Amino acid sequence: MHANDTDLHAQGASTFIDDMPEPAGLLHACPVVSGIAHGLIESIDLNDALACPGVVTILLAKDIPGGNNIGNVEAGEVLLAEQEVVYQGQPVAVVVAESDAVARQAAGLVRICYKELPAVFDARTAHAQGLHIAPPRIFSLGDVDQAWRDCDVIVEGSAASGAQEHVYLETQVAVVYPLENEGLKVFSATQSPGMVQRVIARVLDCAMNRVEVDVLRLGGAFGGKEEQATGWAAMAALAAGRLQKPVKVRLNRGEDMRWTGKRHPYDSDFKIGLDKTGRILAYEVCFYQNAGAVADLSLAILERTLFHASNSYFIPNVRATAISCRTHLPPNTAFRGFGGPQAMFALEAAIFKAAAAMHVDPAHIQRWNLLQEGQPFPYGMPAENCRAQRCWQQLHDRFDLPRRQQAIDNFNAGHSLEKKALALMPICFGISFTATFLNQASALVHVYADGSVSVSCGAVEMGQGVKEKIRHVAARTLGIDKARIKVESTNTARIANMSPTAASVGADLNGQATLLACQRILQGLKTVAARLAGGEPEQISIEQEPVCLDGRPTATGWNKLVSEAYLSRTPLSAHAHYATPKVFFDRSTERGRPFAYHVYGCAAVEVAIDCLRGTYRVTGVSIVHDGGRSLAPDIDRGQVEGGVVQGLGWMTLEEVRHDGQGRLLTDSLTAYKIPDLYFAPDIAVEFLDGDNPAAVMHSKAVGEPPLMYGIGGYFALVKAIRAFNPDWQPGFSAPMTPEKVLLALYECGC
Ligand code: MTE
Ligand code: HPA
Ligand code: MOS
Repeated sequence: MHANDTDLHAQGASTFIDDMPEPAGLLHACPVVSGIAHGLIESIDLNDALACPGVVTILLAKDIPGGNNIGNVEAGEVLLAEQEVVYQGQPVAVVVAESDAVARQAAGLVRICYKELPAVFDARTAHAQGLHIAPPRIFSLGDVDQAWRDCDVIVEGSAASGAQEHVYLETQVAVVYPLENEGLKVFSATQSPGMVQRVIARVLDCAMNRVEVDVLRLGGAFGGKEEQATGWAAMAALAAGRLQKPVKVRLNRGEDMRWTGKRHPYDSDFKIGLDKTGRILAYEVCFYQNAGAVADLSLAILERTLFHASNSYFIPNVRATAISCRTHLPPNTAFRGFGGPQAMFALEAAIFKAAAAMHVDPAHIQRWNLLQEGQPFPYGMPAENCRAQRCWQQLHDRFDLPRRQQAIDNFNAGHSLEKKALALMPICFGISFTATFLNQASALVHVYADGSVSVSCGAVEMGQGVKEKIRHVAARTLGIDKARIKVESTNTARIANMSPTAASVGADLNGQATLLACQRILQGLKTVAARLAGGEPEQISIEQEPVCLDGRPTATGWNKLVSEAYLSRTPLSAHAHYATPKVFFDRSTERGRPFAYHVYGCAAVEVAIDCLRGTYRVTGVSIVHDGGRSLAPDIDRGQVEGGVVQGLGWMTLEEVRHDGQGRLLTDSLTAYKIPDLYFAPDIAVEFLDGDNPAAVMHSKAVGEPPLMYGIGGYFALVKAIRAFNPDWQPGFSAPMTPEKVLLALYECGC
């Protein structure tokens, strides 16, 4: 029986890169990073570091044989800084030593002199100084300028959402082994094995077929290893290639927190106009994204912000502008939701403010404007199989929301120092990579002579259970027991040109490729079975192991069939490729059909605050989530629960802070609070069932969308504060930490 990842985790038997036995002669590399946010390198003194016993070498930019570039977008995405440093924590050199301790100690002895230059840390200041990653983008629908005239209520304001640290349990790590003939074998904790392979080949100036990248599993990623695992692997490869010894790079928690990018903080300005019934007629928003020092994935993330500017609402007149601003922080990067949550937060702030002006509950406006079938998003695509209304309605019916609201009102009337509130959060998330070309995957399936099955594909397991879903697809397609199926490590020698495992489409893309490969093998097997059973291949099926003729079991079982197929020289391996059909986007008109489909859902988040202390609890979350026909219901439930808690953390406790020089202050888990078991609320999830012809076996992607339910936590807190202090005008600056709650409770509102 092949155990799944969940069982291995529970037994403590799953291995991660740092658990791999260390080979004799393994060297350890430690990056030397910039101690300032912006400046020119005047000199680098390596003498003291080189004098440390156990130091083997120290590598600088000039030691890179190929391109000093680890990104996809701009020249400044260097592996090692050469003349200019653009953020604190930017690698400048790599110390290679016989032990991890020596490497770290020697790294501390490298002296770099700088000529300091002015630095900027927030998006609005960067914008004012003209520091941008690219020109602004604008999505528009209808005519906002005209529409203001028809509005009865118009409110304007701003909203700011903060950064978020990924806090994957496994920190960034890579081990690289030199092979014969200038080859390298790379073990990297990356969501993008294909990118790690390509970048290492670029850095070392060699062909991609010299570099084999293998990923067994990650100890969490959440987007933080889509782009930002690459540099560490490239450093290890640089050292391993040069020294012809195995080399490991592994960051400790503090380094990982200080040196890697986070979720992008956004500052947004909004203007929203409604008629007197609460119908939203116009919405104008400008997003200022804090990209950090170099492009990384910021422009793709910015694009997704625009795609989700109107979330699950239909707004006939929209103008959304998005500007990626260059600051001197570590490059911010992918994080579950990929720019979508920031857009949704701004719109919910606008709705909240409009509701306050109209003296209605925000839920009234939310409900009144939910998207309906066929209504267009601001990029032209109409909503198809729209479930926005159904999720909202089912949430109300199944979880008896009117009664709960009544109970909250009663409670608040009877308690002066404790207040409760409930907020609703509908979501709508587009499924597909926004970069159309990434929507492809391939799979390689082998059936061995003993009937066991091996599946390789481009999906990286990071805790989201994608391997278990792939197993399910293979088992159902072949008609055999799941125990026979092993999903292999993700390896660039078996699967070429794989897209990152990201955008929630890991199972959609790789599952469909696996299905196609299994079908190909099945075709040959049916011919063999027909010969054995005396029928035509079309009459054959394999149903939970026995070979059936016209649906009735025959004497032949899977093992016999496979062995007959082998003896009759029938292929038992197949490769297949899948590309999502019908997705396209035209950036010159900002119109297209960028997503295969959308995932909908609605959450009700309840909170209780202590009005003396400012402390609070999220007391319950109820969700109706649009799940499709699940490939693994328990995994999907876990994804929804984990996503919500992560979203609540972003909106409430998790505050990333820097000092005036751009040094990260919150660089440990004592200073940076994340939700723990005690924080996590009761979460009740009901899945909306339904078909989804746009994904494998009618399933739906689940990884990212639930994070956005957490936004409801912010607005529930705002409502609870206003139940105590009705004059308080929220500034919409997330996270809503207990500190901010306390100040808001006693702010006079002037
Ligand atoms: N769940 C766990 N346990 N660990 C993770 O790192 N990453 C999330 C989500 N769920 C993540 C997770 C993110 S950001 C994405 S894009 C998806 O999983 C990626 O996997 P999928 O495409 O297979 O859903
Ligand atoms: N989502 C996540 N990762 C990505 C995307 C996306 O849409 N595009 C490129 N990388
Ligand atoms: Mo997820 S942010 O697309 O890795």
